[in-house]
Amino acid sequence: MRSHRETAVLEPEEQALQVPERLRDKFGRAITDLRVSVTDRCNYKCVYCRTGNEGAQYTELASEDYLRMVRAFVSLGVEKVRLTGGEPLLRSGLIEMVRELAEMRTAFLPDGTFANGNGRPLDLALTTNGHLLEGLAQPLKDSGLNRITVSMDAVDAETFTAITRVPRSHERVLAGIRKAQAVGLGPVKVNCVLLRGFNDGQIEQFAEFSRREGVIVRFIEWMPLEEGRSWKRESVVSMDEIVERLNAYRPLVELAPHAASETAKRFTFSDGLGEIGIIAPVSRPFCGHCSRVRLTSDGKIRTCLFSQSDHDLYGEMLRGGTDEEVSAYIRMILMRKEARHHIGEPGFEKPSRSMVHIGG
Ligand code: 5AD
Repeated sequence: MRSHRETAVLEPEEQALQVPERLRDKFGRAITDLRVSVTDRCNYKCVYCRTGNEGAQYTELASEDYLRMVRAFVSLGVEKVRLTGGEPLLRSGLIEMVRELAEMRTAFLPDGTFANGNGRPLDLALTTNGHLLEGLAQPLKDSGLNRITVSMDAVDAETFTAITRVPRSHERVLAGIRKAQAVGLGPVKVNCVLLRGFNDGQIEQFAEFSRREGVIVRFIEWMPLEEGRSWKRESVVSMDEIVERLNAYRPLVELAPHAASETAKRFTFSDGLGEIGIIAPVSRPFCGHCSRVRLTSDGKIRTCLFSQSDHDLYGEMLRGGTDEEVSAYIRMILMRKEARHHIGEPGFEKPSRSMVHIGG
């Protein structure tokens, strides 16, 4: 295969740093953001995700296996690693895994420059439902985690329970968020998937929550990634509708994006208090700027949430692949990254796996 390097357009500062071999797909998108699912177990049964079936099969690899795969991605230029699940805090050995990931920041290059060759440190984040966060926030911080995102789909406790189908968890999540802020893992991002008829009445309460607690609230449009087949376009609460509702609550002011690949449109309110992000993969897809790749809990590469198949990186390792071979495999697979998703279009096919198995 002809090296894509010949055609990729590099930013001037990248040329100056002589980045070795930036990981790019065939559309020239730099792949800098890796999400790793460290378990597909979850202690919630959120209505928009799970069917509620018991007795499903779960897969987790040994920590060393995830670490070896992540190391390969980082050596290829990945700058951000986010641990997800399932629910990652259910994973045994997580704290140790985070510590080893944090050490990857400097482990590669003896002169202290970072493995990804771009002079920026690896950004280490985790997404959790928050149920076990209060007790783990401090150890996570101590082991080198930078940032945390908590999924919380309602401010109101009763609505929260109706969505998660787990009683008495709401207070635990709140305590977890506060603890994470207190130990310096903030500003915590709070993700909310809005579902018409369940929590669409909570938009204003979330705005207040952001202002009161100092967290960044992010509304995410519901995507067809659930285990069953309950997704309907009518159930999606779109960005336009969210913006309209928030503006009626208090005038919104748009904030500049942090980066071109940022998925959220960011807002604050006219008095500068609170921050809201809106992620609109359904009404305003951002595939053209996608910088992501995912690793499932069973060690498969997913190039898109909506892929029809995934690629067995763990299998490559099992077959005895050297580090060079593993890296070459990643490069080859990334070249196949899809141009975009087709949510809502005629002929849309559900992805080969649901969110709980892919990782958010
Ligand atoms: N659509 C949109 N967001 C989802 N999440 C889980 N399933 C879906 C879906 N079908 C969210 C979770 C978590 C984040 C990683 O993705 O609530 O916050």
